[in-house]
Amino acid sequence: MTITGILQVTDSRTGRSYELPIIDGAIRAIDLRQIKVADDDFGLLSYDPALLNTASCRSAITFIDGEKGILRYRGYPIEELARRASFLDVAYLLLRGELPAKEESAAWAAEVTNHTYVHENVKKFIDGFHHDAHPMGILVSTIAALSTFYPEAKAVSDPAGQQEQVVRLIAKMPTLAAFAYRHAMGLPYAYPDDELSYAGNFLSMMWKMTEPRYRPDPVLEHALDTLFTLHADHEQNCSTSAMRVVGSSRADPYSAAAAAAAALYGPLHGGANEQVLRMLNQIGSVDNVPAYIERVKRGDVRLMGFGHRVYKNFDPRATIIKGIADEVFAVTGRNPLLDIALELERIALDDEYFVSHKLYPNVDFYSGIIYQAMGFPVAMFPVLFAIGRMPGWLAQWQEGAADPEQKISRPRQIYTGHGLRHLDGTAG
Ligand code: ACO
Repeated sequence: MTITGILQVTDSRTGRSYELPIIDGAIRAIDLRQIKVADDDFGLLSYDPALLNTASCRSAITFIDGEKGILRYRGYPIEELARRASFLDVAYLLLRGELPAKEESAAWAAEVTNHTYVHENVKKFIDGFHHDAHPMGILVSTIAALSTFYPEAKAVSDPAGQQEQVVRLIAKMPTLAAFAYRHAMGLPYAYPDDELSYAGNFLSMMWKMTEPRYRPDPVLEHALDTLFTLHADHEQNCSTSAMRVVGSSRADPYSAAAAAAAALYGPLHGGANEQVLRMLNQIGSVDNVPAYIERVKRGDVRLMGFGHRVYKNFDPRATIIKGIADEVFAVTGRNPLLDIALELERIALDDEYFVSHKLYPNVDFYSGIIYQAMGFPVAMFPVLFAIGRMPGWLAQWQEGAADPEQKISRPRQIYTGHGLRHLDGTAG
């Protein structure tokens, strides 16, 4: 950490000047505390609702340049990883910092495969949900429930134990996700198949019926694997922040991951791809697109799948996903909603409102159309996102746990409520 400059500030209340070191393009918020009007003053705070301009950690995992549309995991461009690495190798990269060599890759895949089963009581737990329970609600609950099956996970400072929970969580996510789906369909649970790849096994647990062995279509298997990679990490987004915040209290990783999944459930985050499909269905036909765009511009509705807190030119994941869509549709047939999506994109990218607001398709705009063409019901979309994001959550959690600068996360507030008052009606 090298000081690259000094920010000189003068407090107009006292006339006193201060020098705040600039390190890596940031000042430390705690340095503001010395700026006081009196000795017993608490000191100056920075006010940053939704943490729009606050770095909450130092991280070596994911780099994003929102203006240039750059996303890299551990230095590697997402475009190269999406094309040439498997999702499990990307998970290894996120967690351990380097891509695995060939033998390491095989050993890692075997380790994950070894942990895909869940305790039979998890099935009973899932059975307790109502038939129309949202699979994301089931997933959030079952991830949290896993903590009760592995009480040793509470030893969060033990590196070997930590590693075991990491493998279990990555391995069991597809199983929990597929079980949630099969419960909703009233189908018997399909157990993991060790012979299949990570994505292939998930497809098998989703779709296997009476056939002795399910054989996934290799194009769809590869497309799903790539979609998982595209979702694997995205630095300090809402769900990852939830993972880090809950992890900072030294809660076990299952509890922290359940909190992360709960954050992902929201329609402004991982629930957005589900909302995109609902929106496209509601629009109904290409002819209705201009009228819908007008409603968006009037502020009546948001164009779901557009806009991003960080990307202000394009989302590189959306570009890759558009390419995958063509491969998938060659197998599944064209999703009729694609025409509506393409027309929405065409009009929006040309429209002054969207250009001036820097609104572009994000990762969710096309992913839902692909998932639907592959046969996934809309409610499963955020669940698929959660499977892909798990390695990122865990890598960020590990990094936070090992960071000597981190403490329990505890923001400050600016109190705006009543002054002192008493039950007898007096004040002060
Ligand atoms: N449609 C129409 N207008 C929009 C949209 C949109 N999708 N997104 C932002 N705007 C407008 C806002 O109305 C606001 O306009 P104003 O300044 O004239 O009032 C301006 O753009 C800024 O919007 P904010 O909500 O302040 O932007 P923020 O960075 O907080 O939000 C977000 C980012 C939540 C992604 C937003 O763009 C959105 O709601 N998009 C739709 C939901 C979505 O697709 N979410 C997925 C995100 S990607 C992911 O989680 C993987």
